[in-house]
Amino acid sequence: MQPLLKVENLVKHYGAGRSARSKDKLAALDGVSLSVLPKTTTALVGESGSGKSTLALCIACLEHPTSGSISFEGIDLASLDENQLRLLRPQIQLVFQDPASSLNPRWTALEIVSEPFFVQRRYSKPDRAVRALRLLDRVAISRKMAARSACELSGGQKQRLAIARALALEPKLIILDEALSALDCSVQAQISNLLLELQASLGLTYLFITHDFGMAAHLADQIAVMDRGRVVESGSAENVLYSPNHEATRALLAATPRFSEPPAELVHA
Ligand SMILES: Nc1ncnc2c1ncn2[C@@H]1O[C@H](COP(=O)(O)OP(=O)(O)O)[C@@H](O)[C@H]1O
Ligand SMILES: [Mg+2]
Repeated sequence: MQPLLKVENLVKHYGAGRSARSKDKLAALDGVSLSVLPKTTTALVGESGSGKSTLALCIACLEHPTSGSISFEGIDLASLDENQLRLLRPQIQLVFQDPASSLNPRWTALEIVSEPFFVQRRYSKPDRAVRALRLLDRVAISRKMAARSACELSGGQKQRLAIARALALEPKLIILDEALSALDCSVQAQISNLLLELQASLGLTYLFITHDFGMAAHLADQIAVMDRGRVVESGSAENVLYSPNHEATRALLAATPRFSEPPAELVHA
């Protein structure tokens, strides 16, 4: 099966300008390769500063990689002109950790989910309202809440709203960058179940970025582990969780209570 997303040898230097000191020239991405199959969830796990968000921004065309390639449905993003990119961008949506930074607090939930329709000039005005309400319904935001401004919503409701907005333009790939990390455990569990439901009904592909192996274990088919700007290990969730090869993976697992002890049946295997 052809991957939906294929990243090859991606390098990203920040502050590589002439005046930058050598320590600022360290690569945020130092040759990342990653493949994501359609309709699956790949968890990208790594400690803070390992380059996860930089990779997300490059895939969503919000940062330009220094070198390497990203292809989406077999098409190299670097080969697209501005018009072609404008058509492609809605297919890849990014949901961030902090919804407050991406949702206008004074807008109502309904206005926020409708915005992508206005920006992309999709559908007639009455159609937009119908579609927006349907999206809010999908993420369990009631009609009553739809009329409230974003600042009145709880953290979990804001993240549901951010997910509804990400769905508006019918994307194929959703990148969730620590999207559940700031939420309480019970809210995390509810929203991760919502993500699984949406994936099953809409055929979505997720790149789920987290520093938490527990979340990765719950959601992912595949796990890729990042360390210092590289993917150092990747494979099926089961293999990475229960027979990790790389020391960075083992260190992250050791910091996750559920995985710090191997399951009894594997101890003597
Ligand atoms: N806009 C930026 N300018 C300069 N350096 C950056 C920028 N964004 C990230 N970095 C650096 O790139 C590295 C990777 O960061 P990031 O991709 O945010 O990692 P993660 O999301 O895994 O925590 C870090 O060393 C970080 O300081
Ligand atoms: Mg990050």
